[in-house]
Amino acid sequence: MKTYAIILAAGKGTRMKSLLADKSKVSFEILGVPLVQHVLNSLKPINPSEKVVVVGFGGETTTKIVGEQAKIVWQKEQKGTGHAVKQAAPILEGKEGCTIVLCGDTPLLKSETLQKLIDDHIASKSSLTVMSAKVPNPHGYGRIVRKKDGSVERICEQADANKEIDAIDEVNTGVCVFDNILLFKYLNNLKPTNAQGEYYLTDLIKMFVDDGLRVGVSLMSDYHEMLGINDRRQLAEALAIMKRNINNSLMISGVTIVDPENTYIGPYVKVGQDTMILPGCYIVGETTIGCFNEIGPSTYLNNMKIGDSNKLICSHLIDSSIGNDNNIGPYARMRGHVNIENHVKVGNFVELKGVTIHDGAKMAHLSYLGDSEIGERTNIGCGTIIANYDGVNKFKSKIGDDVFVGSGTTIISPVIIEDDAFIAAGSTINHDVKKDDMAIARARQENKPGYAKVLRTKALEKSKK
Ligand code: UD1
Ligand code: CA
Repeated sequence: MKTYAIILAAGKGTRMKSLLADKSKVSFEILGVPLVQHVLNSLKPINPSEKVVVVGFGGETTTKIVGEQAKIVWQKEQKGTGHAVKQAAPILEGKEGCTIVLCGDTPLLKSETLQKLIDDHIASKSSLTVMSAKVPNPHGYGRIVRKKDGSVERICEQADANKEIDAIDEVNTGVCVFDNILLFKYLNNLKPTNAQGEYYLTDLIKMFVDDGLRVGVSLMSDYHEMLGINDRRQLAEALAIMKRNINNSLMISGVTIVDPENTYIGPYVKVGQDTMILPGCYIVGETTIGCFNEIGPSTYLNNMKIGDSNKLICSHLIDSSIGNDNNIGPYARMRGHVNIENHVKVGNFVELKGVTIHDGAKMAHLSYLGDSEIGERTNIGCGTIIANYDGVNKFKSKIGDDVFVGSGTTIISPVIIEDDAFIAAGSTINHDVKKDDMAIARARQENKPGYAKVLRTKALEKSKK
């Protein structure tokens, strides 16, 4: 049977209390991934033949996130979840198959749970299957109201609930599967006759039941998965759950996480066996980490490709790659497009951008290297700066193999320093240096005998006045 999916993401998210006019609720992130993207991810293994995201408030932001992953329909005015689903009619109406409807603000749903719901729906030949959950605090959710014989009668929203309904602890998770043809047929019959004056998708349950169509309820085994994000406390709550899930599965696969409570790893990150992650790390994006690394404490990695057996301490590294057996940090920063090969040392307070560093090179302290290439076994002395920017344009430099760059050197790009050259400390280099040459570019030292004493005496006299 063909499967379609509709994600509702048009709501304003008033309770997020954002000052930004075009920030949709579903664009808030957990572990570097927007809420609606988490929902799209959970649908990936299900692979619906058509996916539609309903956007409205902050819809430009949401549309950008969704990109090519689904079709977008606009709900200009937010008149309720039933009205939102109806906006997908131009794409889905009249097609044979079943449609799963989800909310864009439920990032913890697992693919297996969604697949089970669809399987239940098909196996029971239902026209509509609602996923329910038993929760400790049902307040705020639509309640599953059952008849005396246990079959479902309707869903009652919080705003319309009386005391008796308030006590029901089985709630609508917001995920349901419909026979697609019937869905769009019945949506036309919805009326906004309720406390909120909205077109409730959940009113379809009673309509289906009254017309003798088969309506099933599939109970979710772990209610945590249904957590919907309405405010920023729930955003933190969902983060805590997701973090625990991700860290647990990494630890089970052979990664040591010293303090899982204080380690944040995003859903796309891959980590190899026997890598140890020390406390305070935040690792997100499309980061892959090999085996036998030691990472942290307090290291930020985003879109990094890291090989095996590296040591990365207290560093901030993005959009770069690191080979094997390197020593990085503490307090190293890679701002992007950095390619470190093997056996390299990047020490404290070294900032790198757009650089390739070949095997065995060392830059142990306090340097900025921009837009350049550093050869094998070359030593970059403390305080070296490759000045790559003249205020308008950027330039590149190349430093060969086995070069010694003395401390406090400024290299004004573009410059080529050939293999085995020696740059004297404190030089400002703006011409190329040939192989085996030494370059020295600084004023000669002059000593003035006894003059320090003269200066001191003058200063003391001044202070007495
Ligand atoms: C909804 C369900 C409730 C369920 C709960 C689960 C309805 C009427 N109620 O309530 O039974 O227990 O989810 O989390 O369906 N949206 C639109 N357009 C609108 C209104 C909402 O796109 O006009 C989107 C929102 O962006 C959100 C989703 O639909 O992603 C749910 O809307 P929300 O207002 O959060 O519904 P709840 O009150 O949580
Ligand atoms: Ca909600």
